[in-house]
Amino acid sequence: MKNGNMKVVIVGTGYVGLTTAVSLAYLGHEVSCVDTNPDIIARLQNGQATIHEPGLERMMSLAWENLSFTTSLADSLAGAAVVIIAVGTPAKSNGDADLSSVEKVAEQIGMLLGAGIGPIIVTKSTVPIGSARRVRTVIDRQLSLRGVECSYHVASNPEFLREGAAITDTFYPDRIVVGTDDNAATDMLRKLYAPILNQTFAAVEEIVRPTENNLPVLVSTNPTSAELIKYAANSFLAMKISFINEMAGLAEKVGADIKEVTQGIGLDRRIGIRYLEAGLGWGGSCFAKDTHAIVYTAAQYGYPMELIQAAINVNKHQRFTVIEKLQSSLKVLRGATIGIMGLAFKPNTDDLRDAPAIAIIGKLLDLGARVRVYDPIAMGNFSRQYPELSVDCCSGLEELATGCDALVVVTEWPEFASVAWVKIGARMRQRTIVDGRNMLNKARLEKSGFHYQGVGR
Ligand code: UGA
Repeated sequence: MKNGNMKVVIVGTGYVGLTTAVSLAYLGHEVSCVDTNPDIIARLQNGQATIHEPGLERMMSLAWENLSFTTSLADSLAGAAVVIIAVGTPAKSNGDADLSSVEKVAEQIGMLLGAGIGPIIVTKSTVPIGSARRVRTVIDRQLSLRGVECSYHVASNPEFLREGAAITDTFYPDRIVVGTDDNAATDMLRKLYAPILNQTFAAVEEIVRPTENNLPVLVSTNPTSAELIKYAANSFLAMKISFINEMAGLAEKVGADIKEVTQGIGLDRRIGIRYLEAGLGWGGSCFAKDTHAIVYTAAQYGYPMELIQAAINVNKHQRFTVIEKLQSSLKVLRGATIGIMGLAFKPNTDDLRDAPAIAIIGKLLDLGARVRVYDPIAMGNFSRQYPELSVDCCSGLEELATGCDALVVVTEWPEFASVAWVKIGARMRQRTIVDGRNMLNKARLEKSGFHYQGVGR
């Protein structure tokens, strides 16, 4: 290992864990990835990325000599300077985040740490407020049961990467948040991320540097602030999306075009243009989970989070505006055939968690419509995860359009922007299209004989 490089253990090889592992290994750190699932570890040992993420497999091959994969935390812990916990924290039925996997890892760490100076234990998963403290309690309990004296630090280092842009977001972040009560731990994590903070790593051609790329700021906070920053960031972005979707509903009533409105307000730097795209609302594993979790946390204190709750309510309704639009065009949906363009919760991922498409398909089937579906990469996941949804799975857009009364763009896959609409229209029974992501050229579609409806236009 070169000077400044560290031995890092990452527990959990999901989106956050694997991306972080590959990125830190690329920076020169010696990274050991631990996962309890032997199939995942076997695939990773063969150099196969176990999640669909642009650039990940390439980075994995570039960082290969610094990466190792194992199911055994015990084997990898010795000599580690940093242990990053990146296991799942799924939502419980009451909205709270389930910390049991994190606690299990903490318990194991407590059972394994030796006497003397221990590593920094970092929580990177999105964890409820107070988790850093909880992790320390769990580890200390095990150490005291074993009678081992070990001096270690705990830090919260929340992740802000987006699925589909995970590698770019990791190498070109706006900020890195480190929440700990100990300055030495902050310094250590500053060193871990130094090539990113100073932007001195060797850039990879495929990982495009964002045009507005300033040096990332290291935001040093106490652990609780760091934990709240994660929830506050996701809630704010979710609120922005719900705000513009609510405005889009009004734009439709008064005859404004939400795209123009978005530009008109988003160019005000106090507001900002990003996360202001009207559409079918947010999906994915994060925004829903985190908005519900923060509302739940606040409720523990008798404190209602009214804005965030309103954002959740707007989002719940937003995906079903598609149904209202189809009803207004086709009148009766029973017996109609609807083609769903895109299933993933957003482009560049095959992730179907909380994907608007699933809710829309369910509703269409309830209403007696026949549903045909196509997604460039999520078809396999869809068939495996939703065998109960009785739909026609198609292998391309022409097949999808065949016999349809309407098409609905649910995911804005780039390839949908360059479709030969005359050809597609010729295969349909009626040329109706609901563009749930405002990605298509309305004039072009109308010229090809389509009745076009966007969102807020
Ligand atoms: C989100 C955050 O953006 C990340 O910063 C965070 O690290 C991550 O959650 C997490 O907590 O792990 P992600 O869920 O991967 O990332 O996806 P986004 O790209 O943020 O999109 C979320 C949803 O919002 C998608 O369904 C997308 O279609 C929707 N969206 C986004 C809009 O409807 N309008 C927009 O303007 C932007």
